[in-house]
Amino acid sequence: MPQLTDAFERKFYYLRLSITDVCNFRCTYCLPDGYKPNGAANKSFLSLEEIRRITRAFAESGTDKVRLTGGEPSMRRDFTDIIAAVRENPGIRQIAVTTNGYRMARDVAEWRDAGLTSINVSIDSLDPRQFHAITGQDKFHQVMAGIDAAFEAGFEKIKVNSVLMRDLNHKSLQSFLNWIRERPIQLRFIELMETGDHNALFRRHHISGEVIRDQLIMQGWQRQPRARSDGPAQVFTHPEYRGEIGLIMPYEKDFCASCNRLRVSAVGNLHLCLFGDGGVPLRDLLASDDQQDELQARIARSLGQKKQTHFLHQGNTGITQNLSFIGG
Ligand code: GTP
Ligand code: 5AD
Ligand code: SF4
Repeated sequence: MPQLTDAFERKFYYLRLSITDVCNFRCTYCLPDGYKPNGAANKSFLSLEEIRRITRAFAESGTDKVRLTGGEPSMRRDFTDIIAAVRENPGIRQIAVTTNGYRMARDVAEWRDAGLTSINVSIDSLDPRQFHAITGQDKFHQVMAGIDAAFEAGFEKIKVNSVLMRDLNHKSLQSFLNWIRERPIQLRFIELMETGDHNALFRRHHISGEVIRDQLIMQGWQRQPRARSDGPAQVFTHPEYRGEIGLIMPYEKDFCASCNRLRVSAVGNLHLCLFGDGGVPLRDLLASDDQQDELQARIARSLGQKKQTHFLHQGNTGITQNLSFIGG
């Protein structure tokens, strides 16, 4: 099996495929005014057939994990068909979604039947009022019901993403810990990332994940080794807890050394890094099955341009485009 490799000997097993920019939430750090169709979003998003071709090209290049992202991926009416199309690739062993949880209570069993293997859901606060203030949607209880439904549907472990924000949720570690004491949830604190459109918010609310790491270590939590196709979180466990804590700290010095993932946007551009690359268009090679060889060759060749690191720790601005446009 060929393997996508870059100039720094990093291997790429993990594709983050955005299938839409559309979202029905208005998270303060992402889409505070709600989704507005503009820019790239004026174009149509990848069709089911294009998604079939692109995941086949990645699977035949050694990818074994595909994460469907957005926007909110379940806003697509054909979301279940998309999961099933990705599953057609025998090499893809993990099919994951990152979702705001809005549709989970209703649809999660259907997603599982189509082949979904793992779920990451965003919950920035366990206080329903604060959840509403951050997401612009009064759906805390609906998302929680979605998590229960996912466990009932047979998902054994669920990951929950919480964007860490000074003065909003950064003092909530204890309530999150209580919540995961008996639940098989990996709760991940994500450091707020600066996006071009929210610089002031970043300056006001960014806080380093070290604050949480120090508290965890003091309370006896232990860091776990990372598996090959894991995402970027540093994972901590504790014998008295069923759940785990993950820390995603993109501003840390060695964050990029373990990079194993590539991104494709909802309009079919390959992004080699979340930060500051314009994207390599792939869509012209998604029109027919006959273009598969050329498509795989372009993906492999593009990797030569992947930089060693985003250099954020050396003072680069680290400003990324809004995460809803590139799938986080
Ligand atoms: P797992 O595969 O389940 O570990 O998931 P993941 O952490 O890769 O996926 P998820 O979509 O839940 O992402 C959580 C957060 O990590 C999001 O805010 C992503 O933007 C961020 N993230 C994931 N990969 C990268 C990366 O390569 N660079 C940066 N800066 N952030 C990343
Ligand atoms: N900084 C950090 N995380 C972000 N997300 C969206 N925007 C940002 C940002 N500016 C998170 C969401 C979701 C994940 C895919 O990305 O909360 O959990
Ligand atoms: Fe939607 Fe996710 Fe952005 Fe929140 S972070 S507005 S749920 S795309």
